[in-house]
Amino acid sequence: MNKRDLLSITDLSPKEIEGVLNRAVELKGGAVSNALAGKSVALLFEKPSLRTKLSFDLAVHQLGGHPVYFAPEEVGLGKREPVADVARVLERQVDCLMARTFAHATVEELAAHASVPVVNALSDAEHPCQALADLLTIQEHTGRLQGATIAFIGDGNNVAVSLALGAASLGASFVIASPQGYGLPAAVLAKAEAMAAERNATVKQVVAPQEAVRGADVVYTDVWTSMGQENEAQQRRQAFQEYQVTPELMALAKPGAIFMHDLPAHHGEEIAEGMLEHPRSVAFAQAENKLHATKGLLELLLGRTPA
Ligand code: NVA
Repeated sequence: MNKRDLLSITDLSPKEIEGVLNRAVELKGGAVSNALAGKSVALLFEKPSLRTKLSFDLAVHQLGGHPVYFAPEEVGLGKREPVADVARVLERQVDCLMARTFAHATVEELAAHASVPVVNALSDAEHPCQALADLLTIQEHTGRLQGATIAFIGDGNNVAVSLALGAASLGASFVIASPQGYGLPAAVLAKAEAMAAERNATVKQVVAPQEAVRGADVVYTDVWTSMGQENEAQQRRQAFQEYQVTPELMALAKPGAIFMHDLPAHHGEEIAEGMLEHPRSVAFAQAENKLHATKGLLELLLGRTPA
């Protein structure tokens, strides 16, 4: 069976990402689709979720399908039941699995054992669905991706990895400022640099936030302590104290630059109080775009039938 998984944003070609974004714009504009009529999608969560659960549940419904949500304690992936067994039970009754996991190996194992598409709805390594919504938001608010510059301030985490690779894939430049030891994984940086170079763009790791934001069209940040890292919170607050996004930092970016955050935000840590209300903040529009991008993605993975 010819199934498509989305474990990393690089599982989609640049053309496919553009296709998802274009379709998301149409669906956001009111296009009606029944692409998932008669289809069901299992939504498996090992971690909490507001936006991703909401957007997948609504996206499946709005495309005419049926979502089935499993809270973290219900399934006990790899604890109550082996991951491979969960995949083999679900594949017989649903048309797609989406999973939010701790270890990236868990989504890989689900994909290896399921004959239906598996979507990574955030693992410790990547957050490709977020990157799709982010790229859609950047395109919408700056008018372009090719040639745009995104400055990411903070941790080289799952969100940063998918955005760096997704941006590079579409010819946007990406620069991330992180304290020593908290940057993008070396292999991701090398891959993103190579992808960007093919499209006349650049990917860079720097240390100083001020250096990253100079000339940027987008200033982006995410939490310093991701889900599952709670026992490092104190040490991370210390390491990242110079990395707060403030109106002063925003002022160093291009005039008109937008501010983005995938949320949830830790106010007073990675963002100064009030940053979400900054005149250039598009954080809530970005959160809404998760719905539209997810619909575009599900149409791609599960086949589109004309409405
Ligand atoms: N980096 C964050 C993203 C939350 C959507 C985390 O993994 O907790």
